[in-house]
Amino acid sequence: MLNNTENDKTYVLITGASSGIGRQCAIQLSENYNLLLCARREEKLNETKALCKNPKNHLVFPVDLSDTENIENQLTSFIKENNICIEKFLHSAGTIGMMPLKMVSNDFIINCLKVNLISAELIVKVLSNKKINLGRLNSVVFISSNISNMGAKAFSVYSASKSGLDGMMKSLAMELAPKVRVNSVLPGGVETEMTQSIYADEEKIKRIEETYPLGLGSTKNIADAVEFLFSDNASWITGQQLAVDGGRCVNITG
Ligand SMILES: NC(=O)c1ccc[n+]([C@@H]2O[C@H](COP(=O)([O-])OP(=O)(O)OC[C@H]3O[C@@H](n4cnc5c(N)ncnc54)[C@H](OP(=O)(O)O)[C@@H]3O)[C@@H](O)[C@H]2O)c1
Repeated sequence: MLNNTENDKTYVLITGASSGIGRQCAIQLSENYNLLLCARREEKLNETKALCKNPKNHLVFPVDLSDTENIENQLTSFIKENNICIEKFLHSAGTIGMMPLKMVSNDFIINCLKVNLISAELIVKVLSNKKINLGRLNSVVFISSNISNMGAKAFSVYSASKSGLDGMMKSLAMELAPKVRVNSVLPGGVETEMTQSIYADEEKIKRIEETYPLGLGSTKNIADAVEFLFSDNASWITGQQLAVDGGRCVNITG
């Protein structure tokens, strides 16, 4: 953890920082860290930056994570040009990819895997390269989903991306120990841009709410778990899937 001063050159990289869970994590993490805010929409990243504590301590890095051919070079150049190091990485960028099997196409699958899964591996590769990031990376958190360990109609591609992310998380946790801890947070449904059509349907939300033993949650519940996993209080936790879903994933009540 760092004091936020103008001269600090160590950052937490947050993908998906332009909205929803990533934005809320940025707002909370800005209390203690300098941030590198990443997503495609630059104006939304600047909005997030303005909502953070000490806005001028944070940087924006607009990039399309589906462009996996170029992500390693883009991130490496950004780190070198700005003379910074990244100590923690939160991968919150994601595309929901809800699609019935008969509508699924090759392009749809590839795009979902690129944004949700492949970009995360390539970013960790850059950040764990000592020549680029000077051995400064110490913690990684992936925003997975509680669907990673479950199933739902029209979610085969999305759930494959999230199960893949959690598989990757466990093996990276072994490969990068003891220097870097790697964990996942598995959110239940929370209201964001991604889920706004579901939350607009009052009847549907009432039905969904009944399946959550602790009731509906918010982006703050997810960000609190991310803050914990990045903190020294989680110093003996690696390779774990932390479900933050109000008990939804263990509920088999009929
Ligand atoms: N909300 C839920 O109920 C829920 C539940 C379980 C898991 N999750 C997971 O939580 C994470 C955050 O989702 P959210 O609910 O906060 O949704 P959101 O508000 O729609 O945020 C998604 C983020 O991903 C970024 N993104 C999407 N495609 C991208 C691309 N090609 N390149 C770079 N950035 C891209 C978006 O930024 P730009 O559009 O600016 O690029 C945005 O910042 C996702 O991984 C999602 O799968 C969400």
